[in-house]
Amino acid sequence: MKRYYKLDEWKIIEEEFVPDRNKMAESIFSIGNGQMGQRANFEESYSGESMQGSYVAGIYYPDKTRVGWWKNGYPEYFAKVLNAANWIGINITIENEELDLAKCEILSFKRVLNMKEGYLERIFTARLNNGNEIKVAAKRFISLVKQEVAAIKYSVTPLNFSGKIIFCPYIDADIENEDSNYDEKFWKEVDKKTYNREAYIIARTRKTKFHVATGMYFNITQEHVSVDFKTKKIEKKKYVANSSTVECQQGQETVLYKYVANLSSENHEKGKLLKNTKKTTRDASKIGFEILLHEHIKAWAEKWKESDIVIEGDLAAQQGIRFNIFQMNQTYTGEDPRLNIGPKGFTGEKYGGSTYWDTEAYCVPFYLSTADSNVARNLLKYRHNHLQKAIKNAEKLGFTNNAALYPMVTMNGEECHNEWEITFEEIHRNGAIAYAIYNYINYTGDNDYLHEYGLEVLLGISRFWAQRVHYSEEKKQYVMLGVTGPNEYENNVNNNWYTNYIARWTMKYTIEAIGFVKDKNKEAFNKIVNKWDFNERKETSDWKDKILKMYLPENKEKGIFLQQDGYLDKEQILVADIDNSMKPLNQKWSWDRILRSPFIKQADVLQGLYFFEDDFTKDTVEKNFDYYEKRTVHESSLSPCIHSIIASDLGKRKMAYDFYLQTARLDLDDYNHEADEGCHITSMAGTWMAIVEGFGGMRVKNNQLHFSPYLPGKWTSFAFKIRFRGHLLAINISKKTIEIKNSFNKAITLVVNNNEVEVAANQTIKTS
Ligand code: BGC
Repeated sequence: MKRYYKLDEWKIIEEEFVPDRNKMAESIFSIGNGQMGQRANFEESYSGESMQGSYVAGIYYPDKTRVGWWKNGYPEYFAKVLNAANWIGINITIENEELDLAKCEILSFKRVLNMKEGYLERIFTARLNNGNEIKVAAKRFISLVKQEVAAIKYSVTPLNFSGKIIFCPYIDADIENEDSNYDEKFWKEVDKKTYNREAYIIARTRKTKFHVATGMYFNITQEHVSVDFKTKKIEKKKYVANSSTVECQQGQETVLYKYVANLSSENHEKGKLLKNTKKTTRDASKIGFEILLHEHIKAWAEKWKESDIVIEGDLAAQQGIRFNIFQMNQTYTGEDPRLNIGPKGFTGEKYGGSTYWDTEAYCVPFYLSTADSNVARNLLKYRHNHLQKAIKNAEKLGFTNNAALYPMVTMNGEECHNEWEITFEEIHRNGAIAYAIYNYINYTGDNDYLHEYGLEVLLGISRFWAQRVHYSEEKKQYVMLGVTGPNEYENNVNNNWYTNYIARWTMKYTIEAIGFVKDKNKEAFNKIVNKWDFNERKETSDWKDKILKMYLPENKEKGIFLQQDGYLDKEQILVADIDNSMKPLNQKWSWDRILRSPFIKQADVLQGLYFFEDDFTKDTVEKNFDYYEKRTVHESSLSPCIHSIIASDLGKRKMAYDFYLQTARLDLDDYNHEADEGCHITSMAGTWMAIVEGFGGMRVKNNQLHFSPYLPGKWTSFAFKIRFRGHLLAINISKKTIEIKNSFNKAITLVVNNNEVEVAANQTIKTS
């Protein structure tokens, strides 16, 4: 395995510039704060391979669907989070030569992502073609505290000359998406203003008409004193800049501070955007770079206080998990239920920044344990807000009675995906959305969520399942035909075990939830009944029949559940039988060959056994694990973490650790040669799960936290922090002991290795 970056506990360090790997580094060194994100593009011009990426959360464009064969029911568009105005740009010209690392000699180069403090730094020395040598140090961050503010400190030191340097900070809104379906530009200019040392541009998205104002205010210092410099205003279409010529002395640092604001019409009245953006950049400049950075670092310290994982004895693993936690925390901060988590976060365009089932199945557990419960609650509310659209989506496909089918991929609740075998068939996503409601309530004890939001969503989803199955006269059971399970390597299958199981479970859970809400809040229940025209007696008795008679394919002899009907008819070859040169299958085999093979893309039956482990004996889980693991190619980054957790539970420790390693450094070590497109943000949450739920054995049962930890691989200890119902707990697992610190003014009783232990308020205990 190749390491591209130096190992370090808290930093990602690139020590030389490799142009061929620049796009990958741009993804890895991305920064963000939940409201905006930025790939690690250079501030100065760069004519080499690069993918510009500046994203503003919630701002999308409905890119017209492009498919060969249109099917009724397809969405009209794919909503894409847009590549927005480039706010980092600072062109540097020295004696008529523009600084461009693709065109000059790089003498030294270092890029550092400081994950502890949340900033990106780059230091290099270069010799220009005119012989002038300079040192550049650039530092930037996107504030966690002032979420519309970013700041850059860009310093240039002439090494072998004195002379004029032109600094030209700019904002460029003439930006395209690489993944645009019709090579269209998505932004139109609304307004721009350029003043001495500041400039603003308002651009609007075509069709969706979001307005985004991007502004900058800058100053230049030498030896900490503001330099008196003249600026030349530059305005072009969708572009504003301020060119400033500064006399620079050999050996003396000249520093440009660029304060940036990105405000959108999602949070401000359109008419006030310019005024508010000016105020934001000016206020930021008055506070100054160092103080802004200081408060930002403090905010990161708070994040780490609640979400850090410390691993002793394995530096690569330590760096890997911190990178994952860092990315999760900079992608979603959870204050705004209109926002969600794209599989690539703010690190690339792939998947359009839209929401997938990844959020409910993988990300919710991470935020539940590492942040205030409102963060996960807002992720759930996002789906509640989209309930009417999910109902429309189901109606479009022919469902009635307010049945809801949530989209496979969405930005605003409308379906964006346009491959029939996924759009219409990968309906298991509905189950994950229901499961997340259960998971949230089970973890937080916030039962009110059910009558406030959850039950309505559950009703819609259960109504969908009830209509999606039908009675087979032959089997005398309910069946579900024409679906795609999480395993996308076979489509249009009948009776995918996972989908049938989660459908049945959702109806059961909805009946329980109805009972609970009726009991606790009759008034709220009656409101829901009226609003949704819910015939409780008739509908629940229909569901009960379907629960009782749901067909779940299995092979009793082998003791396994069947991936789907007919799975055993497939040629039973194993992953071990395929030559490594044939992997990944999705790049080496024809789609036809993949579809007919027994190979499974990602956890499917095992995903169900993971969600519903208490429904099955260990023996059943083990038989299924042993069977399906040999047939799973893990060609989705979401897969190994689930196998790792189950392997931990079954005591298959070596396997659990090997699976964990497959995801922990997936992007850092670029296993799949695709980090240039962006990082696998949602699977990073799975890596966290593999440690806390797998190696830590954390579960919540009957309102109590359970742990059954062990030390994997060569780790000598590991420690994680979790929030649970007001408690902040630090769990430290070492060779001989398990230490639990309870930083809360109330005692908590936990179950460790099947024994109850009490940890008094603000106390630490040791157990084994
Ligand atoms: C996986 C899906 C996942 C999507 C986005 C696909 O490769 O098969 O399960 O939702 O990626 O991460």
